[in-house]
Amino acid sequence: MSPTAKVQREGEIWAVGGGKGGTGKTFLTSSLGSFLAKKGRKVVLVDMDIGGANLHSFFGIDRPQRSLTSFFEKGSSLQDILVRTDLDNLTLITGDIHSIASDTITFSQKLKLFRQILKINAQNVLIDLGAGSHLNTLDAFLIADKMVVVLVPEVIAIENMYHFIKNALFRKVKAVLKEYGFKEIVQHVWDRRQEFGIRNLKELIDHLKGSFSFIGTILDNELSRFRVALILNMVRNKQDIFLGTAVKSVLLKYLGVGIEYVGYVEYNDAVWRSVRERKPFMLNYTATAGAANIAAVGDNLLKGGEIVLPGGLG
Ligand SMILES: Nc1ncnc2c1ncn2[C@@H]1O[C@H](COP(=O)(O)OP(=O)(O)OP(=O)(O)O)[C@@H](O)[C@H]1O
Ligand SMILES: [Mg+2]
Repeated sequence: MSPTAKVQREGEIWAVGGGKGGTGKTFLTSSLGSFLAKKGRKVVLVDMDIGGANLHSFFGIDRPQRSLTSFFEKGSSLQDILVRTDLDNLTLITGDIHSIASDTITFSQKLKLFRQILKINAQNVLIDLGAGSHLNTLDAFLIADKMVVVLVPEVIAIENMYHFIKNALFRKVKAVLKEYGFKEIVQHVWDRRQEFGIRNLKELIDHLKGSFSFIGTILDNELSRFRVALILNMVRNKQDIFLGTAVKSVLLKYLGVGIEYVGYVEYNDAVWRSVRERKPFMLNYTATAGAANIAAVGDNLLKGGEIVLPGGLG
């Protein structure tokens, strides 16, 4: 199975990534999962942050009895290792807390894991990704139906997210062209990019499309599905909210990537309190602005909608 493969399924896979560490990916995976489960949807959350697995902590679970370790080492199925939570419709596939790095998974283990994730019987499968652009992280991002990125209003986070999306897009382009037997062409053109006056990934893709019309058709088809949903987390003021719109234009201009700005979540002390008290946020802090923000983001993700910005500034 290639990273580009999309299987016709009833449920939807959402992967939550974004490059920078500590932006709230795991918090949002747990909270969006809880939001969906409370709506009565059957939800499975997968902790793919190999080496930094902590999704279970957001549900107040200290040391999960089962984890991906048994999947990798004992051949257990994903069904065998599901961990229950306090929410009726929500189960977890907890991370491999014994391994120290993503490199410990072999290529065939990765493919086996992806194949089984694609077969999980649930209305929503949410994958919590680790920080950085490790190939396993990018591939897990690319198998999703909805590729969600979490950003905080900081310059470094924007840079990291830009690189994360660029790396994912480049991997997708390479995978698509490999599938059709044109892998060498991309590398060749990229290596000689100065000669061709190519300054960024968008220009590389445009060059490939312009020079080889058959490649253009393939890429147009495959890349039309490369759409990213952006969540802005730890927002502290109105300016922060509008940052999402600016980031959207930058990504379109330099990467040619379409983005849906699905909403923001304000900085909320109740979040760390819920983590410290080991009480799931969406079960114990339902009256907070943060919970309302998450519900709005969740609704947009479900319906394919976008945030409506106040004051017509969007
Ligand atoms: N909206 C928020 N308001 C306040 N604190 C938040 C908010 N979102 C996340 N946090 C806090 O930020 C910290 C990091 O969150 P989290 O672990 O979800 O980030 P992450 O992106 O998954 O990090 P990593 O890259 O290490 O996996 C946690 O302590 C969490 O409680
Ligand atoms: Mg995390």
